[in-house]
Amino acid sequence: MDQHLHLQYEVHRRAAGDPRGARRAVPLLIFRAGRTPGSGVRPSPMAARGGLQGVAMRIETHDAMILMEDVGKWYGDFHVLQDINLKISAGERIVVCGPSGSGKSTLIRCLNRLEHHQTGRIVVNGVELTDRIRQLSGPLSEIGMVFQGFNLFPHLTILENCTLAPLTVRKMKRKDAEAKAMAFLERVKIPDQASKYPGQLSGGQQQRAAIARALCMSPKVMLFDEPTSALDPEMVKEVLDTMVGLAQDGMTMIVVTHEMGFARQVADRVIFMDKGRIVEENNPQDFFENPANERSKLFLSQLLH
Ligand SMILES: Nc1ncnc2c1ncn2[C@@H]1O[C@H](COP(=O)(O)OP(=O)(O)O)[C@@H](O)[C@H]1O
Ligand SMILES: [Mg+2]
Repeated sequence: MDQHLHLQYEVHRRAAGDPRGARRAVPLLIFRAGRTPGSGVRPSPMAARGGLQGVAMRIETHDAMILMEDVGKWYGDFHVLQDINLKISAGERIVVCGPSGSGKSTLIRCLNRLEHHQTGRIVVNGVELTDRIRQLSGPLSEIGMVFQGFNLFPHLTILENCTLAPLTVRKMKRKDAEAKAMAFLERVKIPDQASKYPGQLSGGQQQRAAIARALCMSPKVMLFDEPTSALDPEMVKEVLDTMVGLAQDGMTMIVVTHEMGFARQVADRVIFMDKGRIVEENNPQDFFENPANERSKLFLSQLLH
């Protein structure tokens, strides 16, 4: 794997709070070239498929930005994702909900290779995600992710957090990367926080900084994993407002959230997961007013309104 890809991979891995990297110093980890440590998962049967090493073959997915076909994943013997079939078009906003442990995080983490699926296939913008990591520079860099715990680099300022990947992965000029970062910090309404460190910001400000950081890579898809659930209640709205703004601008979004007001306002579809499966998929109005599945009904009845 070349150094840039590795950097990008590690930035994602670090940003995810991956325990495999947690004991190493960040700069060492980031600039170490070479193979990623073994993930301990079963080898994907897709790795054995034909095709040239490192060459991304485009797959015709018609209008699907993301295609998941019969996707399965195990953690050891535990079948965490089962028979996942999902097609997401450009510009669609999907809300994923379901009980804790139902596989929501695992599903979206498979889309940017923070986790590897083992059966079925995932195609992002026409490129299949396989173990041939070289071909992932395209699709991975097209997916931005925002985590529950913000996952900003604590030793970098907000501006440096925003310019790190554009400078190192995209090789942007510093002046351009900083101008772009400032534009996005304006957009999430925290330009005045640019020279501060994450620990000096409120939770809501940190999460908006994390959204700006993801946008600085010009993603085609944004994944959000419970972006407001670690926030104090008074900060939830400022983050949701930022996300509504993104949705209104036409960003393709997959949002794991239990913020049902957000789901009603912006989602084209709500996906309900239980025990590793998608058990219901519907437009928000029908999902909330007339859930078809017993488990969705129970889940909705337990949410606070
Ligand atoms: N790295 C892991 N190793 C083993 N089990 C895991 C790992 N990550 C998650 N799990 C388990 O997989 C299930 C689904 O987890 P997750 O995708 O995080 O669910 P959700 O986001 O819906 O709460 C849970 O039972 C969780 O304990
Ligand atoms: Mg989760």
